[in-house]
Amino acid sequence: MTQQLISDRAMGLKEPAPAGKSRGLWPGNPAAALWRTTVGKKAVMAVTGAILVGFVIAHMAGNLKIFLGAKPFNDYALFLRTVGEPLFPYSVLLWIARAVLLTSAILHIWAAVELTRINWAARPRSYAVKRSRATTAAALTMRYSGVLLAVFIVYHLLHLTLGAVGFAPGAFSHDSVYHNVVTGFSAWFVSVFYILAMGGLCLHLDHGIWSMLETLGLNNTRISRGLRLLSRLGALLVFLGFIAVPIAVLAGWLGPKE
Ligand code: HEM
Repeated sequence: MTQQLISDRAMGLKEPAPAGKSRGLWPGNPAAALWRTTVGKKAVMAVTGAILVGFVIAHMAGNLKIFLGAKPFNDYALFLRTVGEPLFPYSVLLWIARAVLLTSAILHIWAAVELTRINWAARPRSYAVKRSRATTAAALTMRYSGVLLAVFIVYHLLHLTLGAVGFAPGAFSHDSVYHNVVTGFSAWFVSVFYILAMGGLCLHLDHGIWSMLETLGLNNTRISRGLRLLSRLGALLVFLGFIAVPIAVLAGWLGPKE
């Protein structure tokens, strides 16, 4: 953290103002002061990234229930809406989870844009030429795969949550998620788009999990190689778990559209 602050200072980047002296939006608030530093933005990226990774793994595992059949899969979709009852009314916990996810996604993208801007502004031309190829490739991959994921998520919500795209009129069911998945992925170009987007997700997670562990201070030279492998394997498993569904539909391995 201290080393990071020193290098931020060397790059002319802002550091947290002392208590009571923070400037800009929301002066005096320690969280706002931290957000104005690169360390703070990286911490926001790591924490929101951890929340999003947790969701992605849970979502992928939930999707695999489709291989148990239409009823278990639809029951699972219903469970997500009724969980917490009767303490919480119908779908309230789901809406809370949606709010947390949306906030995390917005903060994650916001921090990424800000860090990219700071990076570009602080980089003299000669340094740009000397930068290591590996760093450039990782940073570029994160930006491109991040944009692809953002586009994918908008399409995905319009597709399988709202039924607004990718379905013939009347083909989307509000009662059977199983029917929607089998019908939706029967269009090969939709499946191909999903598989390509999952490739983008895999690349994003490959570097993202690793980078998150480093920012959260969970990395050190002794376990570095192990964590790199963990990050890579995790990304690959998520990729395989997600693409199993469109592949199974295209191959005709899933039952009728109940
Ligand atoms: C092949 C890959 C995927 C499949 C088959 C799939 C399937 C589904 C299905 C069937 C739903 C509707 C669930 C329901 O209405 O109960 C859904 C919702 C959703 N999916 Fe996916 N998904 C995939 C990939 C992803 C990925 C990679 C992300 C995020 C990075 C994601 C984020 C979401 C979100 C945010 C929702 C809305 C949840 C809600 O608000 O109820 N999905 N997905």
